[in-house]
This record gives sequence, structure tokens and C-alpha cells, in this order.
Amino acid sequence: MCGIVGISGVRKLPGGLLMEGLKRLEYRGYDSAGLAWQVHRRIWIRKKAGKVDDLWGDLPEDLELRTGIAHTRWATHGAPTDVNAHPHTDSDGRVALVHNGVIDNYRALKKALEARGHRFLSETDTEVLAHLIAEHLNGNLEEAVALALREVEGTYGIAVMHVNEPGKIVAARRGSPLIVGIGEDGSLVASDAVAIVGRADRVVHLEDGDIAVLNGKEHEVRRGSGQVTAAFDWSMLDIPLTVADKGAYPHFMLKEIMEQPEALEDCFRGRIQREFGTARLGGLNMRPRDFLDIDRVRLLGCGTSYLAGAVGARMIGELARIETTAEYAPEYRYSNPIVGKNTLFFAISQSGETADTIMAMREVIRKGGKVLGIVNRVASTIARETGAGIYIHAGFEYAVASTKTMLNTMMALFLFALLVGRMRDLSLARGRQLIDEIALLPDKIREICALRPQIREAAMRFAEAENFYYLGRGYSYPVSLEGALKLKEIAYVHAEGYSAAEMKHGPIALIDDKFASIFVMPRDSVFNRTFTNLQEVRARQGTVLAITTREAGELAQFSDAVLVLPEVDEILSPFLTTVAVQLFAYEFASLRNCPIDQPKNLAKSVTVE
Ligand code: F6R
Repeated sequence: MCGIVGISGVRKLPGGLLMEGLKRLEYRGYDSAGLAWQVHRRIWIRKKAGKVDDLWGDLPEDLELRTGIAHTRWATHGAPTDVNAHPHTDSDGRVALVHNGVIDNYRALKKALEARGHRFLSETDTEVLAHLIAEHLNGNLEEAVALALREVEGTYGIAVMHVNEPGKIVAARRGSPLIVGIGEDGSLVASDAVAIVGRADRVVHLEDGDIAVLNGKEHEVRRGSGQVTAAFDWSMLDIPLTVADKGAYPHFMLKEIMEQPEALEDCFRGRIQREFGTARLGGLNMRPRDFLDIDRVRLLGCGTSYLAGAVGARMIGELARIETTAEYAPEYRYSNPIVGKNTLFFAISQSGETADTIMAMREVIRKGGKVLGIVNRVASTIARETGAGIYIHAGFEYAVASTKTMLNTMMALFLFALLVGRMRDLSLARGRQLIDEIALLPDKIREICALRPQIREAAMRFAEAENFYYLGRGYSYPVSLEGALKLKEIAYVHAEGYSAAEMKHGPIALIDDKFASIFVMPRDSVFNRTFTNLQEVRARQGTVLAITTREAGELAQFSDAVLVLPEVDEILSPFLTTVAVQLFAYEFASLRNCPIDQPKNLAKSVTVE
């Protein structure tokens, strides 16, 4: 959500270098973009509503810079306009600043600054930071930044320049990720490693309260009262240069859907022990005895991560016989949660940076609870603060709509369920049977990917529909919620997920010949019940797409279209049905020419509460 990239170069560099970094950050926000660069004792700024590509046209063709900061925005305070775009400056244009996060007390600060003669141009919370820093300036930018930030409540990742200190960028973090990198061209700062891949050899992740000073090859990070950059854990970037490349695919989302067979294999490979019919998850850092003590599991997450948790909760309940629930992280945080001694918590997050999930995690930790992470991004905030958990190994996910990370999160939770189940009542035979079934999943997913033409045809049949129900029971209930979420996100169509059983308790009132229902109904233990619900919809002239397994059979008679997926064990059915609903949403959105990788109002990784 919003992206920052900055460079303090050892020599003059083409401006395109910074713009390339900004472009790679566009998946984090894309309603406006801006760039500030310094030439001797003057700061130049160009900023504009719209995409990063729109900004290009406003820059000098031969732009060269030694120091520059850039930003791509996802609006929180103030509409996406030229004026509200970052960078922002103080009244004299001497301080230039880009910011991710939210300044909670900005109204009070703004009022006080205005009373002292500061003139504001934008409606943003960010602008107060530039004015505050200017007020504290007394010859040293980092000191001014430190003093200004003492007055601020809220979250920030910032990068700041000042006209009198050419070459210098000061960066600071509280609650909004920032990394500092060192490379051949100089020192870099970014809110996301993807912006500086190929430019930085080594990186350090800033922690809350850190202030970094970059000046060409020189850099220091102040942590607490010390300045001990050398002692920090520098790491190499583990992201390949090709991450921001969609190859032959028209969209990153499709590329990532198609990557799922291999991505899923990366999650379970090396983690299963067929001989014992169990899983091995070294990153949990738990002794066998600790697993036996667990009497409850709570899975905290948002959006698709929450829904992967909702599937996982059933898996853990079924295999490990532990009472498990998935909880919406922001609701859980404010529910005065009961943190039992033997309750195990998982914070689930693809990015590891979702503010709502981080805050729920911290609330549980504050109450003495044990929280493990289930994350994709290595060294993200959740990974670092939990210190243990399960990496889902999905590879970089670039599309705003999560796909492969849902499958891999479900797999991580399945492996946990298998591991704990085998320590309790799950038989060796059933453990081995499930392991054999997992091994077949990648090929079955490939079969579903090959159904794309059929799925497109089904999407065409429903092309006119403006309202959708996604209906399923058991393991297919959370998958139905996910199907509806995906369709809303990328096709801008009203879609709601319900338990197929719940539908007759109210939602059925809306069914008529213009209302489409997608039934997620593999041939499992609740198939017959769901079939009854489908007929209830049919009896009211509703249009129906049935997603099932093995064969269409009698469904063909009662549905407008049927998608038949490979046969699968009931507990593993979400690994297949999820792919089908992803592809349906993708094809539906593509028929409507929606901007699939940059859906309106959304951005990847929601780092504000
Ligand atoms: C849906 C989607 C969002 C995220 C949610 C949590 O396609 O991408 O709903 O799942 O914002 O994000 P993470 O998993 O990064 O915490």
C-alpha cells in the first residue's frame, strides 16, 4: 500500500533507474506518483495523479540525478489528485518527503503549524511531516527528523531530503516497512525489496524506531541510542530479477494461477515423511511435548489469508481434533481476546506486513500468547516478530489478487494438521493415504488449468449477470467466500458467498432469472444436501454454474453449465475448487476488459489499519 524508493548515488545516474524501481512498486498503489530529485542546492519535484507511466511524460528526457526519492500512492487522506500526490514539501520547498502510513494526530499538528504561519497545499496527513521537520531544522537533517517524529502519533515509513544537504536521504520507520540497500550505484531505500532487486547487493530491514542516513556509499542506521549499522544482520535479496516480469501471460494474476502446481509442490516438498505418514515443520521450533499441550488454535488473518485460515481450521479440527477457529484479525484485536495458556495462535499473511494482522498478533503477544507466523515474504514484520512459523514458499506474488498464496497457506495448515494429527489419533494408514493424495495435487491442478477454455465459455454464459451468489458447504463454504471475493475484486460485480444451507434462511429472496449462483459442490459427504439447495435455486428460475468433481451426472439437467474437476479426497478438495473459482473470476473479468492486475481502489499489502 503505497511504495517508496530512493537513491543516494555515488555518481550521477539516469532518472530512469528510480522510475524503474517505482514501476515495480506499482502493485502497492497506483492512484498517483511523484519524484523529487536534487541538483546542487535545489530540489525539483514532479508529481501527478494516475499511473507511474503518466509521470514519465512530465520528466525531463535526459533526467540525471544523484539523489532522489519517489512514491506511488494509494490514497488514504485526500483524493488522488496532483496536489495530494507525494513528495510533499514544507512552505519554502526546502524539505521534500515521501511517506507510507497514517499520521493519526495530523489534524492537531496541522492546526498548530498553521497557527505558527505554515501554509498547507494538500489535504494529506503526510504534509505535516515536511513542515514539522522544517521547523526543527538546525543544520542537521537527521536530528530534525528525529525531533519531529517525537511529536507524531501513527505509522510511517519516510524518506526525506533537504536542499542544504545535497546527496543525503534520511529514512525512518515506525509500523510501515522500509529496507536500506547498498549496491554499486550507492545507497538505496525502499518500502519493498522488489524496487531495488538488481541494484542492491545487501539489505538491512529497518525496525520500528530506526533512523537511517544515506549518503552515497556511506550509510548508517541509528537504532536506539547507538549507531551500529555494521552489527546489523545484512542479508542478500532472495527475490529473482524476473519477479516483475509477466512473461508471455497477459496478466500477473493468470501467470500466478498457472504457477500453482509448482508453487504448491515447493510448499510440501521436503516436509513430508511418508514412512511415518506425517509432516516435518522445523520452523515451528516446538518440542513434541508442546504439540500435545495445545488445546485450541486460533488463526488470525485478513481477506484471502483469513479464508485460507477458515479452510485450515476445518483441517486442523478434522485431523488433529483440536478446536480451531479462523478469526478476522482486526475484529479479534478489539474483542478483548481470551488468550489461554495452551492456545496456539497463527498470524497468517502473504506479505507479512498487513497492519490489521500485525496489530492483532501484537495484542496476543502482549497478553502472553504464543504466536507463530504463516507468511510468504521472508524477513517480513510478522516473520521477524513471531520468530518461528511456516514459510509457505509460494514465490513472489505480484498480482493484487492473491491466488497461489491461498493454496500454499492452506497447504501449510494442512501439513500442521497432519503433523499434530499423527501425534494424536490419526492412523498411520490415513496419514500415508493423505500424503499420497497430496503428491497427486499438482497434476490435478494442471488438469484444471487446462480447462481454461471451458471456464471461459462458462464465464461467457454469465456475462450479463450483475449479481452472483457463491454457495458451498463444508470445505466448500470458505472456498465460496473466496470465489465471491475474487469476482468482486477484479470484475467489480456484486458477489456474495454463503453456506448453501444458509441460503434458504434469507438470501434466497433475491433469486430470479437474472441472479446467478455458483455452486461449489465436489462429490463429498455434503454433496446430496448441496444438490437439494441447488434445486431450490433452480425452482426459482435462478441461473446456475455447478463446480463439481468426477462427473457432471444429474447436475447437467439442473444447471446452465457444469465444470467437472478431478476426483479428490474431501479434505483436499479446496486445493482444486479454489483454482476453479480463481479462473472463473479471471475469465469473467477479462471478458469485461477489467484492469485485472490493478483493480480500482485496491493495492497489494494493506499496511494501514
Ligand atoms: C485478496 C487479497 C487480500 C489479502 C489481504 C491480506 O485477493 O489479496 O484480501 O489477502 O489483504 O493480505 P496478506 O495476506 O498480505 O496479509
